[in-house]
Amino acid sequence: MDTEPTSTPTRSVKSSVGPSNVSSYLDPLYWDKRFSSEEHYEWLKDYSHFRHLIQLYIKPISPTSVLELGCGNSQLGEELHRDGITGLTCIDLSAVAVDNMQKRLLSKGIKVMSLNMLLKFKFYGAPMFCISYDYIQVLVADMLDLPFEKESFDVVIEKGTMDVVFVDSGDPWNPRPETVKKAMAMLQGVHRVLKPDGVFVSISFGQPHFRRPLFEAPEFSWSIEWKTFGDGFHYFFYILKKGRRMTDSKPCMEKSDRPSISLYQEELEDENYMFRTNVEEL
Ligand SMILES: C[S@@+](CC[C@H](N)C(=O)[O-])C[C@H]1O[C@@H](n2cnc3c(N)ncnc32)[C@H](O)[C@@H]1O
Repeated sequence: MDTEPTSTPTRSVKSSVGPSNVSSYLDPLYWDKRFSSEEHYEWLKDYSHFRHLIQLYIKPISPTSVLELGCGNSQLGEELHRDGITGLTCIDLSAVAVDNMQKRLLSKGIKVMSLNMLLKFKFYGAPMFCISYDYIQVLVADMLDLPFEKESFDVVIEKGTMDVVFVDSGDPWNPRPETVKKAMAMLQGVHRVLKPDGVFVSISFGQPHFRRPLFEAPEFSWSIEWKTFGDGFHYFFYILKKGRRMTDSKPCMEKSDRPSISLYQEELEDENYMFRTNVEEL
């Protein structure tokens, strides 16, 4: 548990297939094509930058069931696994990402449960999407329509995946109804699959003044707090605790929620910058 994470640097393998238009991030074919040639790209920051926050909210007590949304080719899943987090299920809409992730984990000696194995279990009478504590499950699934029973997970985590929904949101202060509909479908699914005292961790470019109106929808029973991490530009680490909402309390705010305008040149040149330009006012 005390071993240091071994992530390669965030931009160890630069993407050569960044799109000319941010709307491409909503196209599953874009991701399939990208993952066909890209081995590793870490959106926002790699695990080492927010591991201290993860350890505050995700305890490696066994058994824990954790769902990662939109794993892509990130190392977040294997870093969590290395830190003793069990019962990990990673999903992505891209079959190419899922296939590559399964191969990569296996090549690192991590046991992987594939859909074929799950189907075999179903044949023998076990539920289709059971939680496995020995394996990492990597599955093709849509975060807007999660194929899991309600109250299945202790933790749901995503990094940069919810941000995809917002790339064509239009005015970030007044996002398009289609964007809001998709974001709410995602959040409703997350809320449904979380256990009654489960935690949703959202690691995001999206600043509190844009995310709070959605997180705070009346149908959700979770409390909301957030931390920031990163130098120059601050990334947001939201912690939503199901069943802990207080009707008259203000969400805990670590720092000012005014838009951050401090950027390093490196970040201005990075694909992350293009990705987030539509979700914040700079
Ligand atoms: C910006 S990348 C983030 C990847 C990874 N989480 C990281 O931190 O590097 C977004 C990922 O979400 C996936 N994705 C997009 N829409 C999705 C959806 N509706 N359901 C599941 N995954 C989705 C994409 O295929 C891609 O892998």
